[in-house]
Amino acid sequence: MSLRTTTPSAGYVEDVAPGRGALPPRARYASDAARLSLNGDWRFRLSPTADAEDDSFAEPGYDAGAWPQVAVPGHWVLQGHGAPAYTNHLYPFPVDPPHVPTDNPTGDHLRHFDLPDGWPETGDAVLRFDGVESCARVWLNGTELGEFKGSRLPHEFEVAQLLKRVGNVLAVRVHQWSAGSYLEDQDQWWLPGIFRDVTLLHRPVGGARDFFVHASYDHLTGEGTLRVDSDVPGRVTVPELSVDIATGEPVTVAVEPWTAETPRLYEGVLATEGERVALRVGFRTVALEDGLIKVNGRSVLFKGVNRHEWHPERGRALDVETMRADVLLMKRHNVNAVRTSHYPPHPAFLDLCDEYGLWVVDECDLETHGFVTQSWRDNPCDDDRWTPALLDRAARMVERDKNHPSVVVWSLGNEAGTGRGLTAMAEWIHGRDDSRLVHYEGDVDCRDTDVYSRMYAPHAEVDRIGRGLDGGTHKRRALPFILCEYGHAMGNGPGGLADYQRIFESHDRLQGGFVWEWIDHGVAHPELGFAYGGDFGEELHDGNFVCDGLVFPDRTPSPGLTEFKKVIEPVRIDGDGPSGAVRVTNTHDFADLSALAFEWSYQVDGETAESGPLSVPPLTPGESADVKLPAPPDAPTGAETQWTVRALLARDTPWGERGHEVAWAQLPVGRRESVVPAATASPAADGPLLRLGPAAFDARTGALRAVGGVEVTGLRLDVWRAPTDNDEGAPWQPDARYGPLWRRLGLHRMQHRLDGVEVGGDALTVRTRVAPAAAEVALRTVYRWTADGNRLRLCVSVTPEGDWQLPLPRLGIRFGLASADRVTWFGGGPGEAYPDTKAASKLGRWRSTVDAMQTPYVRPQENGARADVRWAELGGLRVDGDPEFWLTARRWTTEQLDAARHLTDLTPGGTVWVNLDHGQMGIGSQSCGPGALPQYHLHARPSTFSFVFTPTG
Ligand code: GAL
Repeated sequence: MSLRTTTPSAGYVEDVAPGRGALPPRARYASDAARLSLNGDWRFRLSPTADAEDDSFAEPGYDAGAWPQVAVPGHWVLQGHGAPAYTNHLYPFPVDPPHVPTDNPTGDHLRHFDLPDGWPETGDAVLRFDGVESCARVWLNGTELGEFKGSRLPHEFEVAQLLKRVGNVLAVRVHQWSAGSYLEDQDQWWLPGIFRDVTLLHRPVGGARDFFVHASYDHLTGEGTLRVDSDVPGRVTVPELSVDIATGEPVTVAVEPWTAETPRLYEGVLATEGERVALRVGFRTVALEDGLIKVNGRSVLFKGVNRHEWHPERGRALDVETMRADVLLMKRHNVNAVRTSHYPPHPAFLDLCDEYGLWVVDECDLETHGFVTQSWRDNPCDDDRWTPALLDRAARMVERDKNHPSVVVWSLGNEAGTGRGLTAMAEWIHGRDDSRLVHYEGDVDCRDTDVYSRMYAPHAEVDRIGRGLDGGTHKRRALPFILCEYGHAMGNGPGGLADYQRIFESHDRLQGGFVWEWIDHGVAHPELGFAYGGDFGEELHDGNFVCDGLVFPDRTPSPGLTEFKKVIEPVRIDGDGPSGAVRVTNTHDFADLSALAFEWSYQVDGETAESGPLSVPPLTPGESADVKLPAPPDAPTGAETQWTVRALLARDTPWGERGHEVAWAQLPVGRRESVVPAATASPAADGPLLRLGPAAFDARTGALRAVGGVEVTGLRLDVWRAPTDNDEGAPWQPDARYGPLWRRLGLHRMQHRLDGVEVGGDALTVRTRVAPAAAEVALRTVYRWTADGNRLRLCVSVTPEGDWQLPLPRLGIRFGLASADRVTWFGGGPGEAYPDTKAASKLGRWRSTVDAMQTPYVRPQENGARADVRWAELGGLRVDGDPEFWLTARRWTTEQLDAARHLTDLTPGGTVWVNLDHGQMGIGSQSCGPGALPQYHLHARPSTFSFVFTPTG
């Protein structure tokens, strides 16, 4: 018997080379040449291995009529074939580069097409793939065109010789895993498929090929210089500037510059003999000068976000309207910059950034993070065999995107270690485009880069870097600094954004940062709402670490985005309420304030009594003006009064309507007087009950039973909150992670020992000791109840016992109400806030409902607290706090919230659980960054706080 050896026919899958047969990369542009979109329904066949089927499906005449169809662009795993899988940095296959598993889902895609009427007889044609994950082999009419890797990069093939007027057969074999997968270990779902457009482009005789628009701006002269270098000569016209020049020839004219704040574009045309190409020219100069990133001569402050492409149903196959939704949301939330983490986005996104104005750090499709588990041994970025693939990726990004004014920085990739391949990329990019800077966070010494970049550095370290006290190489010390990632927006949070912003604004060297990240990558799921890692039975996964965005998967802004908007607002308003003196500072980098209209309003006990326009000069960037508020209207004595000053869009803009709020501040005037009802009622026995003013208590236990006609259950001290993702922290965090420590101490199972019920004179006093099993720490808690005829007052005194080493999650009382729906309060709102996420909490009179007060974090956790509440009304009760309190109300217990994995696990019970908190622990960002700063820790210390309950019914 002879042994048969088999060689996989798909050897190219494991080849480190970028591919074979594709045309050299070039600029992306729109022109008058004919084009045919090949998007739509394609026939599809899924095979378990790379070579399970032969390639006869590519032959003309193959009958694929029985195959199901998938939408292109799309991912087959989101269309009922297989399932998505999520890992952060672990490769979901054995690390043995360049080899991939035998089990390699392979999707054969087939599409028939005819050329449309009028398709020119002459010229060439190019077939373009804008993005295919992770490796594709392509045939047209039975002839193989080649194969490629580089999932989020374009690849083009020359096809004119093969095209027929009718009956073309385009066959694409896509492998989920390839050598390229080792270079694409980004923290996201693994989603194979043809997920961006497929287009046939006519290439006319004498058509443009590649060209490079150089459009600089001289801030000293106010002039721009335009030169378009083109492979194919032609003329460049910009009618608005009366420019009409030959390609390669420079022209200098007076222009308005492009900036993210003033995205001035000039429409132009590059006309070659055979083609008219639309140009959108933005004049701007990016330079590294005086150790700073300057655009048009001025240092910029990035108020940025990291954006992955995401749609909860379509994955990374985004349509333009979804991209526009991102840009509009960003602009409306004062975001001025985007890092395209961690790959070049769909090209239409950059068109939108040019148009609406966002600074872009365009990042290459490169991450080899999984090699960290083997101390970076065998990292492709330090292995010459892979360098051609790395250079191919760099070139495909730069060539495609080089004509976008919004792109100001090229990024080599993310978390790809260090090595010669990265140096080669940086050298190539610097050589090809000296008009932009090069970024790569992994290059800590900045050997290859122009910016010192870090991720998740704690506040204190960023401050030291700002002061230049961080040491580092000689080169690095002279470079500007950015946080390419900070403020990990996983679940509730991120906390501490305002503290970062203050530090950024205190040191020139700190040029801002990019919050991690824009959107939660939750997958729409029929039973789970939004699914995350592990929900598809993955063997290895990283759970809900994939849901760490400022917007929820459906793009509803989370409180984190509202907070970020406030923290980065481009106008600073401070002042002194009682004297009515206001100082307005323009904190834009480029725009004056002429686009804004200012308005004052005056609130009495949270309700606006009067309002009017405030005249503020059109300040230039950095300039301040002192303005005077009018004489305040009269207010009753004892009322709390304040000014609110707002900066609004004066006119409709492309991204926001007139009246859209850009910035605001509140200036307190008169403080409220706390009302302590006199203790005129006396406790009186009534069978098993004890009556005090409007309240009834259990005479034996001292437990509150009712206030007026409102039943109250389970009122007691509460210290537990369902740990947030930031409480839980990431396993690799060096500092204490309180979520696990709280649980270990038993703060989720506190026992309440009743030490005494005392009825004396005008008060009912209940003494307790609240402590977890197996520990000696405790909170001695005394509830002292007094009342007048209609009002019931509770004063809670808490005295810690033992050596409390941990801060508390919360400190306050909780109780259940039989029913509550509408909630009205005077305090911070409208949204949730915590000690280090309350910049956006506005003091006022707010109305909501229990349901609407829940924040739908994809993984349920503590949420929904309203800060600084003076009083609240719900469920037939009014509660006045002294001092102010944190208000939370939900239709499930904290324990149920804690146990839930998805929102769909939470089912409303009959009781509304209300927490009135004297304190809350800060949130921080420890799910990937630093924890809450010490000033936001809730320490166990002696505390007294009180509430007055009044029945409203
Ligand atoms: C960074 C990484 C991101 C993401 C983030 C945590 O280290 O660059 O891709 O994983 O951490 O969410």
